[in-house]
Amino acid sequence: MLKSARIAVFVSGGGTNLQALLDAQRDGKIPHGEIALVISSQACAYALERAEKANVPAHTVPSSLIQHDFEAAIELLLEQYKIDVIVLAGFLSILSENFTKKWPRRILNIHPSLIPSFCGRGMYGLKVHEAALARGVKVTGATVHFVNEIPDGGEIILQKAVEIEEGDTPETLQRRVMEQAEWILLPQAAEIMPSMVCIIHFPPVWRKFFAYVKQKQYNFTLYDGMIIHRHTHRVNNKLNDSAK
Ligand code: GRF
Repeated sequence: MLKSARIAVFVSGGGTNLQALLDAQRDGKIPHGEIALVISSQACAYALERAEKANVPAHTVPSSLIQHDFEAAIELLLEQYKIDVIVLAGFLSILSENFTKKWPRRILNIHPSLIPSFCGRGMYGLKVHEAALARGVKVTGATVHFVNEIPDGGEIILQKAVEIEEGDTPETLQRRVMEQAEWILLPQAAEIMPSMVCIIHFPPVWRKFFAYVKQKQYNFTLYDGMIIHRHTHRVNNKLNDSAK
Protein backbone atom coordinates (compact mmCIF):
# COMPACT_ATOMS: atom_id res chain seq x y z
CA MET A 1 0.00 0.00 0.00
CA LEU A 2 3.03 2.30 0.24
CA LYS A 3 3.45 4.60 -2.75
CA SER A 4 5.75 7.37 -3.92
CA ALA A 5 4.51 10.94 -3.57
CA ARG A 6 2.91 12.52 -6.63
CA ILE A 7 4.60 15.87 -7.28
CA ALA A 8 3.08 18.89 -9.06
CA VAL A 9 5.58 21.45 -10.35
CA PHE A 10 4.32 25.05 -10.74
CA VAL A 11 6.11 27.21 -13.34
CA SER A 12 5.78 30.55 -15.12
CA GLY A 13 8.71 30.86 -17.53
CA GLY A 14 11.63 29.09 -19.16
CA GLY A 15 11.49 26.11 -16.84
CA THR A 16 15.20 25.40 -16.38
CA ASN A 17 14.48 24.36 -12.80
CA LEU A 18 11.69 22.09 -14.04
CA GLN A 19 14.23 20.59 -16.46
CA ALA A 20 16.62 19.92 -13.57
CA LEU A 21 13.79 18.06 -11.81
CA LEU A 22 12.86 16.06 -14.92
CA ASP A 23 16.51 15.11 -15.50
CA ALA A 24 16.90 14.07 -11.86
CA GLN A 25 13.78 11.92 -12.12
CA ARG A 26 15.08 10.29 -15.32
CA ASP A 27 18.38 9.56 -13.55
CA GLY A 28 16.62 7.93 -10.59
CA LYS A 29 17.51 10.70 -8.14
CA ILE A 30 13.95 11.23 -6.85
CA PRO A 31 13.00 7.68 -5.79
CA HIS A 32 10.36 8.84 -3.26
CA GLY A 33 8.53 11.06 -5.75
CA GLU A 34 7.03 11.11 -9.21
CA ILE A 35 6.51 14.31 -11.23
CA ALA A 36 2.85 13.81 -12.13
CA LEU A 37 1.72 17.29 -13.21
CA VAL A 38 3.04 20.66 -14.37
CA ILE A 39 0.93 23.81 -13.91
CA SER A 40 1.95 27.05 -15.61
CA SER A 41 0.59 30.50 -14.82
CA GLN A 42 1.57 31.62 -18.37
CA ALA A 43 0.26 30.00 -21.56
CA CYS A 44 3.46 30.89 -23.45
CA ALA A 45 5.90 29.46 -20.87
CA TYR A 46 8.60 27.33 -22.49
CA ALA A 47 8.37 25.11 -19.40
CA LEU A 48 5.17 23.66 -20.91
CA GLU A 49 7.17 22.31 -23.86
CA ARG A 50 9.71 20.76 -21.51
CA ALA A 51 6.88 18.96 -19.70
CA GLU A 52 5.38 17.76 -22.96
CA LYS A 53 8.75 16.37 -24.15
CA ALA A 54 9.03 14.45 -20.88
CA ASN A 55 5.44 13.14 -21.24
CA VAL A 56 4.26 14.88 -18.09
CA PRO A 57 0.68 16.28 -18.20
CA ALA A 58 0.83 20.09 -18.31
CA HIS A 59 -1.93 22.68 -17.88
CA THR A 60 -2.11 26.47 -17.88
CA VAL A 61 -4.03 28.34 -15.20
CA PRO A 62 -3.66 32.01 -16.18
CA SER A 63 -2.46 34.37 -13.49
CA SER A 64 -4.83 36.97 -14.97
CA LEU A 65 -7.69 35.23 -13.12
CA ILE A 66 -8.72 36.73 -9.81
CA GLN A 67 -6.91 35.05 -6.89
CA HIS A 68 -9.91 33.00 -5.76
CA ASP A 69 -10.61 31.57 -9.23
CA PHE A 70 -6.89 31.08 -9.93
CA GLU A 71 -6.42 28.98 -6.80
CA ALA A 72 -9.74 27.14 -7.24
CA ALA A 73 -8.66 26.07 -10.76
CA ILE A 74 -5.29 24.91 -9.42
CA GLU A 75 -6.98 22.97 -6.61
CA LEU A 76 -9.21 21.17 -9.12
CA LEU A 77 -6.14 20.00 -11.05
CA LEU A 78 -4.35 18.93 -7.88
CA GLU A 79 -7.35 16.84 -6.94
CA GLN A 80 -7.76 15.41 -10.44
CA TYR A 81 -4.11 14.29 -10.54
CA LYS A 82 -4.09 13.13 -6.89
CA ILE A 83 -1.14 15.33 -6.02
CA ASP A 84 0.63 14.88 -2.67
CA VAL A 85 3.31 17.60 -2.72
CA ILE A 86 4.01 20.79 -4.72
CA VAL A 87 7.29 22.29 -5.98
CA LEU A 88 7.33 25.95 -7.06
CA ALA A 89 10.02 26.23 -9.74
CA GLY A 90 10.18 29.77 -11.09
CA PHE A 91 6.47 30.28 -10.29
CA LEU A 92 5.78 34.00 -10.23
CA SER A 93 2.35 34.12 -8.56
CA ILE A 94 1.94 34.43 -4.81
CA LEU A 95 -0.35 31.83 -3.22
CA SER A 96 -2.76 33.01 -0.53
CA GLU A 97 -2.79 31.83 3.06
CA ASN A 98 -6.08 30.13 2.28
CA PHE A 99 -4.19 27.92 -0.19
CA THR A 100 -0.89 27.40 1.63
CA LYS A 101 -2.47 26.44 4.95
CA LYS A 102 -4.02 23.40 3.24
CA TRP A 103 -0.51 22.18 2.33
CA PRO A 104 1.60 22.56 5.47
CA ARG A 105 5.23 21.58 4.78
CA ARG A 106 4.11 20.14 1.46
CA ILE A 107 4.95 23.10 -0.82
CA LEU A 108 8.53 24.09 -1.46
CA ASN A 109 10.00 26.98 -3.42
CA ILE A 110 13.42 27.88 -4.80
CA HIS A 111 14.61 31.46 -4.39
CA PRO A 112 17.79 32.76 -6.07
CA SER A 113 19.44 34.35 -3.01
CA LEU A 114 20.51 33.40 0.49
CA ILE A 115 17.32 34.16 2.44
CA PRO A 116 16.83 36.45 4.39
CA SER A 117 18.79 38.64 1.95
CA PHE A 118 17.14 39.96 -1.22
CA CYS A 119 13.79 38.21 -0.83
CA GLY A 120 10.12 38.91 -0.20
CA ARG A 121 7.34 40.50 -2.24
CA GLY A 122 8.56 41.95 -5.57
CA MET A 123 11.94 40.19 -5.37
CA TYR A 124 12.06 37.71 -8.26
CA GLY A 125 14.10 36.90 -11.36
CA LEU A 126 16.80 39.42 -12.32
CA LYS A 127 15.66 41.89 -9.64
CA VAL A 128 17.20 39.67 -6.98
CA HIS A 129 20.61 39.66 -8.68
CA GLU A 130 20.44 43.41 -9.42
CA ALA A 131 19.85 44.03 -5.70
CA ALA A 132 22.74 41.74 -4.68
CA LEU A 133 25.14 43.53 -7.05
CA ALA A 134 23.89 46.98 -6.01
CA ARG A 135 24.53 46.10 -2.32
CA GLY A 136 28.01 44.88 -3.19
CA VAL A 137 27.80 41.52 -1.44
CA LYS A 138 30.64 39.10 -2.25
CA VAL A 139 28.60 35.93 -1.86
CA THR A 140 25.02 35.14 -2.87
CA GLY A 141 23.34 31.80 -3.61
CA ALA A 142 20.01 30.00 -3.58
CA THR A 143 17.56 28.82 -0.94
CA VAL A 144 14.91 26.11 -0.96
CA HIS A 145 12.22 26.68 1.66
CA PHE A 146 8.76 25.52 2.62
CA VAL A 147 6.00 27.88 1.50
CA ASN A 148 3.66 29.60 3.91
CA GLU A 149 1.59 32.80 3.70
CA ILE A 150 4.69 35.04 3.91
CA PRO A 151 6.52 35.45 0.57
CA ASP A 152 9.89 33.66 0.97
CA GLY A 153 9.13 33.42 4.71
CA GLY A 154 8.76 29.66 5.26
CA GLU A 155 11.19 27.31 6.99
CA ILE A 156 14.50 26.93 5.15
CA ILE A 157 15.29 23.43 3.83
CA LEU A 158 18.57 23.84 1.89
CA GLN A 159 20.94 26.69 0.96
CA LYS A 160 24.03 26.90 -1.23
CA ALA A 161 26.43 29.83 -1.56
CA VAL A 162 27.77 31.15 -4.89
CA GLU A 163 30.66 33.62 -5.25
CA ILE A 164 30.14 36.95 -7.00
CA GLU A 165 32.87 37.62 -9.55
CA GLU A 166 34.49 40.85 -10.78
CA GLY A 167 32.50 42.30 -13.68
CA ASP A 168 29.33 40.28 -12.97
CA THR A 169 26.10 41.55 -14.51
CA PRO A 170 22.66 40.50 -13.24
CA GLU A 171 22.51 38.09 -16.19
CA THR A 172 25.90 36.40 -15.61
CA LEU A 173 25.17 36.15 -11.90
CA GLN A 174 21.71 34.68 -12.50
CA ARG A 175 23.24 32.02 -14.74
CA ARG A 176 25.96 31.10 -12.20
CA VAL A 177 23.43 30.89 -9.35
CA MET A 178 21.28 28.57 -11.44
CA GLU A 179 24.18 26.32 -12.50
CA GLN A 180 25.98 26.17 -9.16
CA ALA A 181 23.02 26.22 -6.78
CA GLU A 182 19.43 26.11 -8.06
CA TRP A 183 19.69 23.13 -10.40
CA ILE A 184 21.50 21.15 -7.70
CA LEU A 185 19.40 22.09 -4.67
CA LEU A 186 15.92 21.76 -6.15
CA PRO A 187 16.13 18.06 -7.13
CA GLN A 188 17.68 17.30 -3.72
CA ALA A 189 14.81 19.04 -1.96
CA ALA A 190 12.25 17.41 -4.24
CA GLU A 191 13.52 14.06 -2.96
CA ILE A 192 13.70 15.15 0.68
CA MET A 193 10.13 16.48 0.87
CA PRO A 194 8.32 13.33 -0.37
CA SER A 195 10.54 11.12 1.76
CA MET A 196 9.38 13.12 4.77
CA VAL A 197 5.85 11.85 4.41
CA CYS A 198 4.96 8.19 4.27
CA ILE A 199 1.85 7.94 2.11
CA ILE A 200 -0.38 4.93 2.60
CA HIS A 201 -3.76 4.34 0.93
CA PHE A 202 -6.54 2.81 3.01
CA PRO A 203 -9.99 1.47 2.04
CA PRO A 204 -13.01 3.58 3.19
CA VAL A 205 -13.84 1.45 6.21
CA TRP A 206 -10.38 2.14 7.64
CA ARG A 207 -10.72 5.88 6.98
CA LYS A 208 -13.58 6.12 9.51
CA PHE A 209 -11.46 4.34 12.05
CA PHE A 210 -8.49 6.63 11.42
CA ALA A 211 -10.71 9.73 11.50
CA TYR A 212 -11.70 8.62 15.00
CA VAL A 213 -8.10 7.92 16.03
CA LYS A 214 -7.04 11.29 14.61
CA GLN A 215 -9.24 12.98 17.20
CA LYS A 216 -6.93 11.44 19.77
CA GLN A 217 -4.19 13.74 18.47
CA TYR A 218 -1.95 11.18 16.82
CA ASN A 219 0.73 12.67 14.63
CA PHE A 220 -0.68 12.16 11.16
CA THR A 221 -2.91 13.93 8.65
CA LEU A 222 -5.96 12.34 7.03
CA TYR A 223 -5.95 13.55 3.45
CA ASP A 224 -8.32 12.44 0.71
CA GLY A 225 -8.44 8.84 1.84
CA MET A 226 -4.75 8.61 2.62
CA ILE A 227 -2.86 8.60 5.83
CA ILE A 228 0.13 10.91 5.69
CA HIS A 229 2.33 10.15 8.62
CA ARG A 230 4.87 12.75 9.61
CA HIS A 231 8.30 11.29 10.36
CA THR A 232 9.55 14.25 12.31
CA HIS A 233 12.60 12.46 13.66
CA ARG A 234 13.54 11.14 10.21
CA VAL A 235 13.02 14.57 8.66
CA ASN A 236 15.53 16.16 10.97
CA ASN A 237 18.08 13.44 10.21
CA LYS A 238 17.52 13.90 6.48
CA LEU A 239 18.02 17.64 6.71
CA ASN A 240 21.20 17.15 8.73
CA ASP A 241 22.50 14.55 6.26
CA SER A 242 21.94 16.79 3.25
CA ALA A 243 23.68 19.68 4.98
CA LYS A 244 26.94 17.64 5.06
C1 GRF B 1 15.03 31.21 -11.34
O1 GRF B 1 16.10 32.03 -10.94
C2 GRF B 1 14.21 30.88 -10.12
O2 GRF B 1 14.94 30.79 -8.96
C3 GRF B 1 13.32 32.05 -10.07
O3 GRF B 1 12.96 32.27 -11.43
C4 GRF B 1 14.07 31.99 -12.23
C5 GRF B 1 13.64 31.32 -13.51
O4 GRF B 1 13.61 29.94 -13.42
N1 GRF B 1 12.29 31.91 -9.10
P1 GRF B 1 13.20 28.90 -14.55
O5 GRF B 1 14.27 28.89 -15.64
O6 GRF B 1 11.85 29.28 -15.14
O7 GRF B 1 13.18 27.58 -13.82
